[in-house]
Amino acid sequence: MTRICIVGTGHVGLVYAVAFTLQGHTVVGTDVDAAAIASLRKGKPTFYEPGLSAALAKARRTKRLSFSTEIAAEASAAEVVFLAVGTPSREDGSIDTSYVESAARTVGEGMRAAKGYPVVAVKSTVIPGTTETVVRPALEAASGKAAGEGFGLCMNPEFLREGSAVEDALHPDRVVIGCLDKRSGDALARVYAKLRAKKLRTDLRTAEMVKYATNAFLATKVSFANELADLCDAFGGLDVDRVVEGMGLDARINPRFLKAGLGFGGSCFPKDVRALLAAGRASGYESALLRATLDVNDVQPRRAVALAEAAAGDLRGRRVAILGLSFKGGSDDIRESRAILLARALLEKGAVVVGYDPEASSAFHAVVPDVEIAPDAASALAQADVCIVHNDWPAWRRLKAKDFAGMRRKVVIDGRRILDRKAMQGVELRVLGG
Ligand code: UGA
Repeated sequence: MTRICIVGTGHVGLVYAVAFTLQGHTVVGTDVDAAAIASLRKGKPTFYEPGLSAALAKARRTKRLSFSTEIAAEASAAEVVFLAVGTPSREDGSIDTSYVESAARTVGEGMRAAKGYPVVAVKSTVIPGTTETVVRPALEAASGKAAGEGFGLCMNPEFLREGSAVEDALHPDRVVIGCLDKRSGDALARVYAKLRAKKLRTDLRTAEMVKYATNAFLATKVSFANELADLCDAFGGLDVDRVVEGMGLDARINPRFLKAGLGFGGSCFPKDVRALLAAGRASGYESALLRATLDVNDVQPRRAVALAEAAAGDLRGRRVAILGLSFKGGSDDIRESRAILLARALLEKGAVVVGYDPEASSAFHAVVPDVEIAPDAASALAQADVCIVHNDWPAWRRLKAKDFAGMRRKVVIDGRRILDRKAMQGVELRVLGG
């Protein structure tokens, strides 16, 4: 059992606070956001994530999970401190490491009085070299101790997907432990000792790069599938899912992350690919492949608009309903959602746009206020000329032709290849990717 302090109670920090508690450790989740801590103390997560409320309740019942705004004090009593704060994008795509740096300073202050060999592990996604050149000096200056002598240092990337984050934290495929020295790596390995997952030990920079390489590869896989879908449409008579099924049977490829759609969104793929591109550029390397991955991604929402125009003609004055506003089903997160680009492209065409999402409607409205928000799918579809399905909420899979009966003209664009085609008799259905 390890005494753990986590700095940052966002999507990553909170999920790990809960998972580590359920794995037998004693955990304190800390944050500068007093309102978030107050809510967590009452057992209320500050964002929607399937299964998180129940897992948080279960973790709290163990009495080994607490929450606090006293970051330095809590860090001073911990054996392992995880930094799980955000690394937002700057204008040029590079990451802003100021939150990581200031969290490291606060933790360092707490470690002044700490005994033994506390280990600080960076979970935030950071460009190779950041743990060594930003986190380490901040910790050393604030604590008055040297890394490798007075405290240990690790980089331990996370691979949690929104929508299945709790499961991913409890049952990961692998754990990557980048460490400054063996002693630091051993402390982190003890945290994950109960997991069956493969564990890989690396140096700090390699662990940082593994995270970017993983997200960049998966994002490229998605863009590849989207390009295949566009090619299938150009050739005609092809169904991209069948093509991918055939490809995916090759064990070297596998079918995961090859589902074509309107592009990847969320807080990670777009930001991480941009950051890797920017960091490469800063080091004198221009990545053509990463550039293309982003370019394909930006084109996809326009493909849905083109399909709508091909089926319904000029969209000026037409009512277009978007089903699904979050970046993917199972999440209320609209960060980098392709529905934002889609809605803006439709508005530019002069369409009247109405949107519905089971969880993300109000957040979406705040970002694109010109989109009307409907309270449910039926109201969104009422009197619409065109419907575009954007994300993959399971509810869309159950839609039938009668659910579209209220539309003025029943042109439906399936941008996520999720609708049950057999149930769509009487609907003018166009599916991206054939
Ligand atoms: C992603 C990674 O999958 C996680 O491993 C990683 O920890 C996380 O980023 C992060 O860096 O924190 P997430 O953004 O939550 O997780 O969601 P994904 O399931 O990866 O989906 C990303 C986007 O790609 C979504 O818009 C999704 O709809 C899209 N996608 C995914 C497709 O269009 N097709 C696919 O086959 C898979």
